[in-house]
Amino acid sequence: MRTNCFLLLLLFFFLFVLSFLDITTAQIPGFISLDCGGQNNFTDKIGLEWTPDNQIIYGIASNISVTNETRQQYQTVRYFPADSRKYCYTLNVKSRTRYLLRATFLYGNFDNNNVYPKFDISMGATHWATIVISDANTIESQELIFLASGSTVSVCLSNATTGQPFISTLELRPFNGSIYLTPFENQFFLSVSARINFGAENEDSIRYPDDPFDRIWESDLVKKANYLVDIAPGTDRVSTKLPIDIGKDEQPPQKVMQTAVVGRNGNLTYRMNLDGFPGYGWAYTYFAEIEDLDPDETRKFRLVLPGNPELSKAVVNIQENAQGTHRLYEPGFENISLPFVLSFKFGKTADSTQGPLVNAIEINKYLKIGDGSSDGAVAASLVSGYMSLDWAQEGGDPCLPVAWSWLECNSDREPKITSVKLSGKNLTGSIPSDLTKLTGLEQLWLDGNALTGPIPDFTGCPNLKIIHLENNQLTGDLPSSLADLPNLSQLYLQNNLLTGDVPSSLINKNLVLNCTGNVNLRKGGSGGGHNRNIIIGLAIGAAALFLGFIASCVLLRQRKKFPKTDPKHAMPMTNNASTEAAQSFSLSELRNATENFEKKVGSGGFGTVYYGKLNDGKEIAVKLLENTNVYQGKKEFANEVTLLSRIHHRNLVQFLGFCQEEGKDILVYEFMHNGTLKEHLYGPLARERGIKWIKRLEIAEEAAKGIEYLHTGCVPSIIHRDLKTSNILLDKNMRAKVSDFGLSKLAVDGTSHVSSIVRGTLGYLDPEYYISNRLTNKSDIYGFGVILLELISGQEAISNFGINCRNIVQWAKMHIENGDIQGIIDPALGNEYDIQSMWKIAEKALMCVQPHANMRPSMSEVIKEIQDAILIERGGDAAARERSSDEMSRQTVLNMGSLDLCANDQDLSIDESFSRPGPR
Ligand SMILES: *[C@@H]1O[C@H](CO)[C@@H](O)[C@H](O)[C@H]1NC(C)=O
Ligand SMILES: *[C@@H]1O[C@H](CO)[C@@H](O)[C@H](O)[C@H]1NC(C)=O
Repeated sequence: MRTNCFLLLLLFFFLFVLSFLDITTAQIPGFISLDCGGQNNFTDKIGLEWTPDNQIIYGIASNISVTNETRQQYQTVRYFPADSRKYCYTLNVKSRTRYLLRATFLYGNFDNNNVYPKFDISMGATHWATIVISDANTIESQELIFLASGSTVSVCLSNATTGQPFISTLELRPFNGSIYLTPFENQFFLSVSARINFGAENEDSIRYPDDPFDRIWESDLVKKANYLVDIAPGTDRVSTKLPIDIGKDEQPPQKVMQTAVVGRNGNLTYRMNLDGFPGYGWAYTYFAEIEDLDPDETRKFRLVLPGNPELSKAVVNIQENAQGTHRLYEPGFENISLPFVLSFKFGKTADSTQGPLVNAIEINKYLKIGDGSSDGAVAASLVSGYMSLDWAQEGGDPCLPVAWSWLECNSDREPKITSVKLSGKNLTGSIPSDLTKLTGLEQLWLDGNALTGPIPDFTGCPNLKIIHLENNQLTGDLPSSLADLPNLSQLYLQNNLLTGDVPSSLINKNLVLNCTGNVNLRKGGSGGGHNRNIIIGLAIGAAALFLGFIASCVLLRQRKKFPKTDPKHAMPMTNNASTEAAQSFSLSELRNATENFEKKVGSGGFGTVYYGKLNDGKEIAVKLLENTNVYQGKKEFANEVTLLSRIHHRNLVQFLGFCQEEGKDILVYEFMHNGTLKEHLYGPLARERGIKWIKRLEIAEEAAKGIEYLHTGCVPSIIHRDLKTSNILLDKNMRAKVSDFGLSKLAVDGTSHVSSIVRGTLGYLDPEYYISNRLTNKSDIYGFGVILLELISGQEAISNFGINCRNIVQWAKMHIENGDIQGIIDPALGNEYDIQSMWKIAEKALMCVQPHANMRPSMSEVIKEIQDAILIERGGDAAARERSSDEMSRQTVLNMGSLDLCANDQDLSIDESFSRPGPR
């Protein structure tokens, strides 16, 4: 209570200060620089005026505890609970003006937890970006260019998947004139992906005051800036002190245009990562001739983009195009499809004497503006009447990306509000008429307030089912229009000051009606006292309760008949689980099938595998477990095999049954004709018929789907714990399936890790798991990252990579981070691969083997990347276009996977292996 008042006071104070500031700080018109978590106003070294963000009533201001960063605005953050809500900043803007919006995040271990947060930011109803902190000392930054369509914009933080959402600064910069005008600006924001100053004098970026709009131009000397690599030999840096005419369009700062790179050998090449791509983007180059060319010299060059030959036709002649030296020429693409890893080249034409020159480039991605909820305007008007109350200050779209805490919305593309829950919120005055405009409203809870005046006409909300208006001071008649609400089933009006007669239409309606405690309310025209009203209330209420009781009984009975409605119960982890679901083989049957354990086909950490053939001709793999102490008792073994028998997925080796006789523990699987991936990569098989890159990608995709299913398709989820190339098996058709998953323990439902003795294979072992003994499915991601590196390089996880390096992760990391991917590509692949798909996989692999588990991607993110790489291999730049439809079909497959594969006992009979009659 006291803090509430204090916050309110603060709020008023800052509202006052802010409005005061509006008038007095005319120095940089329209700039808003919020120092989140800060305490005081201050002006920084470059002249930006920072204000604290105390006007936001949510979140906690905190100092960061580690950093090399000295700027004051980065010493504090504001952080928010990691709950299901969103936390929003609302900024004032001028409609029909273009702005640059920048949000930055320096974690700095503010919570002394060293848990790197991951969360989403949105602007209004539009998902803006996912912020992934991967280092306590690195500032993450996101920029958006937009055309304001109203008088405010909201930036919201939500959906924390690790750590707590936080923010360091929020910066708003207006542009003038037609800077960044695009034909798409009413449907798309521009999300800034790369803004690079070539030939920069040092590693510092250039911003305000050199750039009056405070864009940040990254120095090309900083590697981390878009990961700029593959620079052509003969690339020279040049600069001038002479002024540059920067034109009227995007107006890159003069300081940026005064430096450039020149390709002395005739070429400039770069490869860079484009955050947010693949997708459609806005890509412009900024050229100005800043070298003194002799009159007989020429500089003419073309842009070369792989897969876009038509773009290479245009010839750039800066001096001619700009009509002079030291003048801007700004060619670009208003809408171009770009990949995540962009390689580009400027190559001189045959008749040019000089190599190409470039001063700067800028690439922005088109970000589709979310439609927002259809009740947005009504909701805004509703809360505007209560701006001093907490619940009215949540900000942003009422439903997107998540609903305000007191609302529920449906899941339409433009969601509608279905519930308003404002019980006991100290509402005064009359019932807001805006509520009657919520056409999708089903539940209205306004009980326990101090509302006065009459009940309005709710016929505008035909879906209303439940209305709670009890315990207010409502007056007037009970409107008969309430009876016209076709779905109304509960109406609570007790303890108000209602008068007149209860309309007979309401009494005759089949609903729970409670109007007790309204002293002057009478039933119908018959003049009954209020005692009768109580009876009406009770009687109708009781009847409805009774009906409800009967309904729930019927429902319960139906549930009993169909016990498989809750997927959580599909795989019970109880000690009394029986082995009914698993096929039991007799030892003699297996002896027969394997010719007395003659044909050994492999051996792994858990035992030896034999080939066998059942009487009906089905080929099987029989695994004789060696370390039977893994399963101390019959019961535990039975539990394990029961679980195994319930896991079905086309990319998991199928478990057929088990045998436990004469002290032997035996597992029976389908036989996989083409052996292990390991044999195909390194064994004699590899030399005979090595597998091509596209096939390797397909194998990776299939294996990844199997793993993803273990992680997300089963409840509780399953951690494999021992992923390696010898656990990826290939069937007759070279389709990959993951094996040995059965021997992993189940992840404990609800928590993110299970602790047990460290088990795994050297070279694939997650270092974090090794140190902490905390096992999560991110340990599998590490193992899978190693497998991806093996697929790229054809090198074993542990082998001799040269001086002091026996580990594929260190070796590959060194090469990839230096931009030298050629150094690790398997020579056996020849040149039958597209370098872009190779980069994609290499970079994802490095993400997978990050030392910190929470920085590793999920299996589904990895699958997406592999699928993109496959598309690149199959169809060049059709990839980006196909991607969205592909994503959809993947979704469908996944859903189907969960349906038919994590099925419970009843469904097993449809599986051929279980319909086969056999001994029990
Ligand atoms: C860009 O071009 C593509 C393909 O022609 C089109 O689908 C898209 O709507 C255009 N605009 C944007 C902003 O993506
Ligand atoms: C409502 O007002 C009362 C009295 O002023 C106060 O104690 C209570 O905390 C308020 N409730 C809410 C939800 O604001």
